[in-house]
Amino acid sequence: METEKNLVLSKSDSWKMFNSIAGRYDFLNRLLSLGQDIRWRNALKKFLADSDNQTILDLATGTADVLITLAKGNPKVHRGYGVDPAVKMLEIGREKIKRQRLDDRLMLQQGDAQALPFLDGTFDCVTISFGIRNIPDLRLALLEMYRVTKKGGRVLILEFSKPENPLLKAGHWLYLQTFVPLVGFMFSGNFKAYTYLNQTIQTFPYGDRFCKILKQMGFVNIEPHPLMGGAATIYVAQK
Ligand SMILES: C[S@@+](CC[C@H](N)C(=O)[O-])C[C@H]1O[C@@H](n2cnc3c(N)ncnc32)[C@H](O)[C@@H]1O
Repeated sequence: METEKNLVLSKSDSWKMFNSIAGRYDFLNRLLSLGQDIRWRNALKKFLADSDNQTILDLATGTADVLITLAKGNPKVHRGYGVDPAVKMLEIGREKIKRQRLDDRLMLQQGDAQALPFLDGTFDCVTISFGIRNIPDLRLALLEMYRVTKKGGRVLILEFSKPENPLLKAGHWLYLQTFVPLVGFMFSGNFKAYTYLNQTIQTFPYGDRFCKILKQMGFVNIEPHPLMGGAATIYVAQK
C-alpha cells in the first residue's frame, strides 16, 4: 500500500485540492471518464437492498452525484445524508439538489469519514464512491461505516480498480499516465490533482485485497462486482 510521503499530495490535504477544483469537478469527471462515471454511479442503484423508505448516508459525497442518482424517482430512498470535508464541493452539490427539487429529502454536511457525527446503527445503507482511496486512514473510515450501518444493512463502495486482462491493463495505465493528467491540467490548471488521481488509483488495494480488509473490519457477504473489465469495482458488503 502507498505511504503518504510517496504521494504528490498528502491524503489528509486532498479535500483542499477538491475545494480548489470544485467548479470544474463534474465537467472533468464526465470528460476524463468519457461519461462512464454516470453509468458507474447508476450501477450502484441496482445494489440497494430490496426495500422502500431507506435512510442512506453517502460519504465523500462531493457534488452529490451519488445521492441524486440513488434518490431521484426511487421509492427505495426516503432520506439521504451526504458528508464531505470540502465545503466548495458541497455548495455545488446543494445547488444541484435544489435544482432537482430533492432538498426535502437530501441533506449535505461538512465532515470527515473517519469520525462521523451519527449514532450507531442509523443507516440502512452507507455508500462511498471514488472516495475511499482519498481517506488517510482507510480502516478507520470502514469501521465508522460499519458502526453507523444498521445490523443487516448494506455498504456499497464504488472505487477505481485495475483490469485483469494484460492488454486492457496496459491501455488503462497509459490512459492514467498521460490522458488524465494532461486533460485534467488543461481544464483545471491543477496538474497535482490529476497526478494524485493516477497515483491513488495505482496504489489502492483493489479486488480480493480490498475484500479481505472489509472482512477484517467485520463485514459479511462481501461481493466485488467489476465494471468495464475491472476499471472500477462496486463492493457490496453487509453488517
Ligand atoms: C473523487 S471525489 C468523489 C466525489 C463523489 N463521491 C463522486 O462520486 O463524484 C473524492 C471526495 O473525497 C472527499 N474527501 C477527502 N477526504 C475525505 C475525508 N477524510 N472524509 C470524507 N471525504 C473526504 C473529497 O473532498 C472529495 O469530494
